[in-house]
Amino acid sequence: MLRIKDLCKQYGGYQALDSLNLEIRKGELFGFVGPNGAGKTTAMKIMAGLLKADSGEIYMDDIKLFEDYNRLKELIGYMPDFFGVYDNLKVMEYLEFYGSAYGISTGSAQKLGRELLHMVGLEGREDQLVDSLSRGMKQRLCLARAMIHDPQFLILDEPAAGLDPSSRHEFKEILKNLQSMGKTVIISSHILMELAEICSSIGIIEHGKIILQGSIEDILSAVDSSNPLMIRVYDHLDRAVAIMKEEQAVSRLTVQGSSILTYFDGGREEEARLLKKLIDQGVLVQSYGREKGSLESLFLKITGSEEEVGYEAESGF
Ligand SMILES: Nc1ncnc2c1ncn2[C@@H]1O[C@H](COP(=O)(O)OP(=O)(O)OP(=O)(O)O)[C@@H](O)[C@H]1O
Ligand SMILES: [Mg+2]
Repeated sequence: MLRIKDLCKQYGGYQALDSLNLEIRKGELFGFVGPNGAGKTTAMKIMAGLLKADSGEIYMDDIKLFEDYNRLKELIGYMPDFFGVYDNLKVMEYLEFYGSAYGISTGSAQKLGRELLHMVGLEGREDQLVDSLSRGMKQRLCLARAMIHDPQFLILDEPAAGLDPSSRHEFKEILKNLQSMGKTVIISSHILMELAEICSSIGIIEHGKIILQGSIEDILSAVDSSNPLMIRVYDHLDRAVAIMKEEQAVSRLTVQGSSILTYFDGGREEEARLLKKLIDQGVLVQSYGREKGSLESLFLKITGSEEEVGYEAESGF
């Protein structure tokens, strides 16, 4: 278990991380979601040991990683959101270079490098100049680089931003492959839906705080109860309204034609019980269910951000 406890970071007077708490189980593909400026990159750089937190702790099981940076670097592989220019450096030389930073011999780095290039679909490009790779290829190389010391955790900061749909699909397959190898992967994005497809759990960050964290199922049920319940009745509308008004979990009830729209703060069982009650009392229910919602709409609701939707086609994961 990787535990991030009360992480704080200020830039000048600006509080970029505000007591951030997060728990990530081993073997998980964890999605770290939040709008621009939420603090994802800051948190990930701190987790990777590249930036110092003002306060807080990271525990790996019971080991305090801030007290043991060597252990932290050994355990964690990091893929940044932007990568630099590498004049006259070939693909394999690049991996050897990063390997040497972790004390890996050239021979071992070449052996492991070949395996990693194969894994990310860059086999045969060992002698190509890094600068001549396409953007998507550079991103894959960067992933290979993050794995050169065989870390247990991988922290990937918006790894698929800017990739075309087919490269994004391939990237997802690589991530699933990493998970099946037993790696724990933490991946950030500002697009919730695409992470939801592959991640086993999700943390939503805003203004440097986690505002919602849980399994995809938990988050989906949070969406459920935040979506209004729509009941269409064939007959006895007044009786249905009276029954609904008695329910504690009901708020903001409106009637539109033969439909009742209401916020119902209950789980699936309560929902089913309410339906039974309506039917038992003679209401002819034609249709009954939550209004269609989506993780994305929940995300927009929570973060109050309207601008995300337009980005969906071009970037993110
Ligand atoms: N080096 C820095 N100096 C000053 N402020 C910074 C610095 N780095 C980040 N910030 C600020 O901290 C906040 C969090 O930034 P961060 O890069 O962590 O967000 P993010 O969630 O990764 O955003 P994005 O989705 O745009 O990548 C932002 O308000 C940003 O302006
Ligand atoms: Mg960022």
